[in-house]
Amino acid sequence: MNVLGELRRRFAEALRALVDDPKPMLAQVLPTQDERFGDYQANFAMALARPLRKPPRQIAEHVVSALDVDDLCEPPEIAGPGFINLKLRREWLAEQLRRMAADPRLGISPVSQPRTVVIDYSSPNVAKPMHVGHIRSTVIGDALYRTMRFLGHRVLSDNHLGDWGTQFGMILYGYKHFRDEENYRRQPVAELSRLYKLMHQLVDYHEAMRSLEQLEQRRQTSSDPAAFQEQLQELQRRVARVAEDPQLLSLARQHPQIATAVLEETAKLHAGDPENRKLWSEFMPLCLEEINRIYQRLGITFDMQLGESFYQPMLADVVRELQGKGLARISDGAVCVFLEGFDTPMIVQKSDGAYLYATTDLATLKYRMEHFHPDAILYVVDARQSDHFAKLFATARLWGYRDVELQHISFGTVLGEDGRPYKTREGDTVALEELLDEAVAHALRVVCQVDDAKPEGRELSDDERRRVAWVVGHAAVKYRDLSHNRTSDYVFSFEKMLALDGNTAAYLLYAYARVNNIFAKGGIDPEEVRRQPAAPQLPTAEERALAVSLVRFHETLEDVLVDYRPNILTNYLYDVAQRFSRFYTNPQCRVLQAETDALRRERLTLCDLTGRTLKVGLACLGIEVVPKM
Ligand code: ARG
Repeated sequence: MNVLGELRRRFAEALRALVDDPKPMLAQVLPTQDERFGDYQANFAMALARPLRKPPRQIAEHVVSALDVDDLCEPPEIAGPGFINLKLRREWLAEQLRRMAADPRLGISPVSQPRTVVIDYSSPNVAKPMHVGHIRSTVIGDALYRTMRFLGHRVLSDNHLGDWGTQFGMILYGYKHFRDEENYRRQPVAELSRLYKLMHQLVDYHEAMRSLEQLEQRRQTSSDPAAFQEQLQELQRRVARVAEDPQLLSLARQHPQIATAVLEETAKLHAGDPENRKLWSEFMPLCLEEINRIYQRLGITFDMQLGESFYQPMLADVVRELQGKGLARISDGAVCVFLEGFDTPMIVQKSDGAYLYATTDLATLKYRMEHFHPDAILYVVDARQSDHFAKLFATARLWGYRDVELQHISFGTVLGEDGRPYKTREGDTVALEELLDEAVAHALRVVCQVDDAKPEGRELSDDERRRVAWVVGHAAVKYRDLSHNRTSDYVFSFEKMLALDGNTAAYLLYAYARVNNIFAKGGIDPEEVRRQPAAPQLPTAEERALAVSLVRFHETLEDVLVDYRPNILTNYLYDVAQRFSRFYTNPQCRVLQAETDALRRERLTLCDLTGRTLKVGLACLGIEVVPKM
C-alpha cells in the first residue's frame, strides 16, 4: 500500500469543501523530517490562509475535523501556526507489516493504469571502447526501467546505438592503413580497439598541433597570461603524447590530412560505397561483441537495440515531410526547422545533402510513436545534449506529437578526485572494463577484511570471497552513480564507493547479509516466517522506527518516477539499513533470544521484511545481493 498516496486521498476528501482543486495542496502532505512531529505532516494551511482569508490554524482545524484517517493514524495534532501532524497507529502498522510479509510483492500491487514507456539509454557510439562516461546513462536508465517494470508499467528499453557516425570513418581509415592482418584474424575485437585508439591519437595530434599554431599567433595579444600558459601546456601535453614516441610521430607525419580523410571515409559509407559498407557489416558484430561483454558483466539487457543505422532509409522522408508541412525550409543551402525561443534553428539536412544526429532522432521518434504508441519517451543522456533535446521536443510538438510525454533525463559528469572529468593519469578516458576490474579488486580487499574480522573466524572460502567481491565491486560502481542526484556531477572514488560505513552498496549488501545470518544462525527458514507472519507489536522505539520506514517502500518507488530520480530509492534503502542496524545492535531488541516466543516471531518478521525490502529495492536498481559477506 502506498501510505502517502492514501493519506493524500484522504486529505483531498477533507479539502473538497474548502477549495476547488485540492491537488496543489496535496504536494504539501509529506513524510516529516523530524520524528518528533509524527510520521507525516501537512503544511498547506499556511498557503490557504490568504485565499480563504482565515487564520491558518483555523483552516487546519477545519480540515482535521473533516479528515477521516482514524483507521491509519492517531488523532491528528495541530502544531505551531497550522501544521497538521500525523502519527501512524501502532496496530495499523502491525497489521500492515503482517500483510506485507505474507505477500511476495511486499504489499505493492501493480499500477491499475499502466503507462507505455520507451526508455532510450546507454546508447554508446560503438567502434570505440566504452568508457566511464557511459556508466551513467546505462545504470540510471536500467534503474528506471526496472523500477517502472516492477510497478507494473509497460516499458521498452532501447539501446539507440551510435553505429553510423565518424567513429566508423576512424576504424575504416585505420583498417585500411594500419591493420595488423595477423592480429585482426586472431583477435578482431582487440585489433579494432587498437586501431581506434591509434587513430584517435593521430587525429588528436594534428588537431592539437593546429591549435598550438593558432595559439602561438595570439601570444602577444593575450590578455590573461595565466590562462594562456595553461592552454599552451595542455596542447603541448597532447602533442607530446605522440611526439615522444618516434614510431607514432612518423605515422602522424605520414598522414597529415587524417582528419579530413576520416570524414571522407564516413561520407563514403553513408553514400553506399560497396567496400565501406562491406567492412561496416564485418565490423558491427565485432563492436557489438565488445559492448555486450560489458553489458553482461553489468547484468544489462535491452528489449531493442535499434541503432542510428536502422533509421537511415527513413531520413529523406522525414525531411520531405517536414518541408511539406511547412515546418522546415532552406536557409543558406541547409534544411532547417526554425523554432520559437531558440537562437539557432535545428538543421535536419546540411547543404552537402548529409543528414544529422537530429534527423535520425526525428526519424526515431516517429518510428517509436508509430510502432509502440508510447505515453512517454525518456532519453537518458548527458546534460551537454540538453539543447539538442529541447529542439527535438519542440519540433516533435509542431510535427503533431503533442500528447506524448518527452523527457530528457539528463545527468552530470563523473569527476576525478581533482574535480575535473575523470581521466587516466595520461589524460585518456578511462575504459569501463578496466574500471570494473579495479572495483572488483578493491572489493576483494574489503570482503577479506570483513571476513577476517568475524568473531568466530573467517566464514568464506577463497572462491566464495572472489564471488562475493565480483558482486560487490559491480554493485559499488552502480550504486555510487545512482546515489547521487543525477543532475549533479560526482567524484569517482574507489575508497568512497566501497566504504562500509556510509551510503554505499557495500553497506547495504552487508546489512542484507546480516539479516540472512540471523536466519542461518537460528536455523530458521524465512519461507516459514512468510507463510504465517506475525504482526509485529513494535514495543521499542527502534522497532517502530524501522517499521515506519518499511511501510514507506511503495510510496518511495512511486516517488522515484515523479522526476525520474533513482537516488530517492538509494536514500530510502540506506535509511532502512540504518534503522535496521539501530534495531539490531540494541541489546533490548534481541531477535533469536527474545523474551517470548511471540516476540521472537514478530522480530523475525521484521528482519525478513528488512531483507526483502533491501533485496527488491536493490533489484530495482539493477543490483544483486549476496547471501553472505
Ligand atoms: N550516441 C549518442 C552519444 O553517445 C547518444 C544517443 C542518445 N540517444 C538519442 N536518441 N539521441 O552521444
